[in-house]
Amino acid sequence: MKQQVLVLGGAGYIGSHTVYALVESGYDVIVADNLETGYRQAVHPKASFYRGDIRDRDFLDDLLSRSDVGAVIHFAANSLVGESMTNPLKYYDNNVNGTRILLQSLVAHDVKRIVFSSTAATYGEPERVPILESDPTHPTNTYGETKLSMEKMFRWTEVAHGVRYVSLRYFNASGAHESGRIGEAHNPETHLVPLVLQAALGKRPKVDIYGDDYDTPDGTCIRDYIHVCDLAQAHILAMEYLLKGSPSDIFNLGNGNGFSVKEVIRAAERVVGRPIPNEIAPRRAGDPAQLVASSEKIRRVLGWNPQRTDIDGIVASAWAWHQAHPDGFGGE
Ligand code: UFG
Repeated sequence: MKQQVLVLGGAGYIGSHTVYALVESGYDVIVADNLETGYRQAVHPKASFYRGDIRDRDFLDDLLSRSDVGAVIHFAANSLVGESMTNPLKYYDNNVNGTRILLQSLVAHDVKRIVFSSTAATYGEPERVPILESDPTHPTNTYGETKLSMEKMFRWTEVAHGVRYVSLRYFNASGAHESGRIGEAHNPETHLVPLVLQAALGKRPKVDIYGDDYDTPDGTCIRDYIHVCDLAQAHILAMEYLLKGSPSDIFNLGNGNGFSVKEVIRAAERVVGRPIPNEIAPRRAGDPAQLVASSEKIRRVLGWNPQRTDIDGIVASAWAWHQAHPDGFGGE
């Protein structure tokens, strides 16, 4: 019988790509999402879909008692750094309190394997790059703080109840599925790659470069861009690692290559074949100058081997999606 996997937040950007990868790998997938930031259209047609919230214990209990879930992948969270600073309690409620309710339900139903989304924002301003998983974690925003709290909650829940987990600390997810059916669609959009491509499409007059006076070679911030399908694959490897009985762990999920904001814009200009209007703007509060992962651990322990590491290729896959869906899922 096919292994049944419950994906919470499976209608969001990274969740929907992981659901596609799970279905393509032959898993029986159940998606639950409250559709606050996700899209019903993003859910793979072969996955079962239930609309509901992880803070609703009855919803979770009902779902788990009617299914035979062997593992959970948990994406259901709010993830905007800026919003987390103006509305921190929303983040504590959904990310921390929601995960507590989820864990209570999992313990009650004896579901003991879970992979969940963490973030490079747990590190805060890094002391060095590439960043190792063992480096200090001093988040500089509420979003990162709530993800770090989640990691700690998982740790103590394992001690008491034996729920094993893998935490994946994402760096900068970008790109889109090659089918052209799903891609990045946030409202409001705050991420660099979609904003650059929306400027290329004329949906925005220009893209702002948030600061060119950082201590980096061209003065703009450096990030580690990872293709969302490589990221999705890592979730399957992490889940299979837990299903084999391996111990809980935390992994960085980035390629280990840094690109500056200007380099990303130049890559996008090569991909679209024309200049993209851009302008230097003030720094955005809380942006570290450089965030680049050491990906040595996830490659060694999980055997993760990203296939789409070239920045032009990552941007090209996002471009295919944005051209075909200039209004995201809104026009459908
Ligand atoms: N940037 C611009 N102009 C824009 C948008 C972004 O110059 O219009 C810059 C940012 O300053 C940053 C880089 O482009 O240097 C990437 O910014 P994103 O907003 O795309 O991504 P972040 O690195 O800020 O955020 C990512 C994840 C978050 C996570 C964070 C950890 O999307 O979920 O890394 O710091 F919390």
